[in-house]
Amino acid sequence: MKIIKTVEEFKEIRKTFGDKSVGFVPTMGGLHNGHLSLMKRAIAENDISVASVYLNPTQFNDKKDLETYPANFADDCALLEKAGVDYLFAPTYPVMYPDDYAYMLTEKRFSKELCGAKRPGHFDGVLTVVMKFFNIVRPTRAYFGEKDYQQYKLLDGMVKAFFMDIELVPCPIVREENGLAISSRNRKLSKEGLALAPKFHEILASGGSEEEIAAKLEAAGFKVDYVTIKDNRIYAAVFLEEVRLIDNLER
Ligand code: PAF
Repeated sequence: MKIIKTVEEFKEIRKTFGDKSVGFVPTMGGLHNGHLSLMKRAIAENDISVASVYLNPTQFNDKKDLETYPANFADDCALLEKAGVDYLFAPTYPVMYPDDYAYMLTEKRFSKELCGAKRPGHFDGVLTVVMKFFNIVRPTRAYFGEKDYQQYKLLDGMVKAFFMDIELVPCPIVREENGLAISSRNRKLSKEGLALAPKFHEILASGGSEEEIAAKLEAAGFKVDYVTIKDNRIYAAVFLEEVRLIDNLER
């Protein structure tokens, strides 16, 4: 696996790909089996696979959340190498934001709901950084996990709104055997937190109105950020030991 740190170098290498298909998986590091399932598909379905590891500060509204994000670059490299990824793009802030975030991409409707209502500016940061990655990597296909379903929908809308020739591939949530959606943030939970966390999915899957589910979550020991049913899907975010967990299910 070749590690590339600058846009100039990536663009030079990109020229050598010619007509080959390019599968891209953007990540913020802290890689787990959910990410690996995306990598596997990107490798299987394309001639060339590219991953990025970049902890994007512009999508964190909470400084503490950014500072405590559990990621280790050496571990991430080893995992990607083992998975068989061809290229890793790992830029820094000055590389990604030569404009120091003077320019930003905003969606005015859905990005203000659900997680967007609770994390002001979050989706501006996500859309902006992914647009930058797409312009650098110029992937044929890009892979996103359905755990961040709102993110996937907003990115899909962005690609359509800007006529971008990129196929977005949504990939199913990878869960622990106990139902807990795999997330880098699970690593921030204590042993007790990890024992309670699977109840989040169990309660979401148990049916009932938004209010009933929120009440069940509170009673189980979660602090509810929101529970919303929209377009045949239930979305929720909760805090457990100050760690923010999200999940969603079709219903
Ligand atoms: O889903 C994520 O890990 C991030 O939001 C992404 C898409 C890599 C952008 O920073």
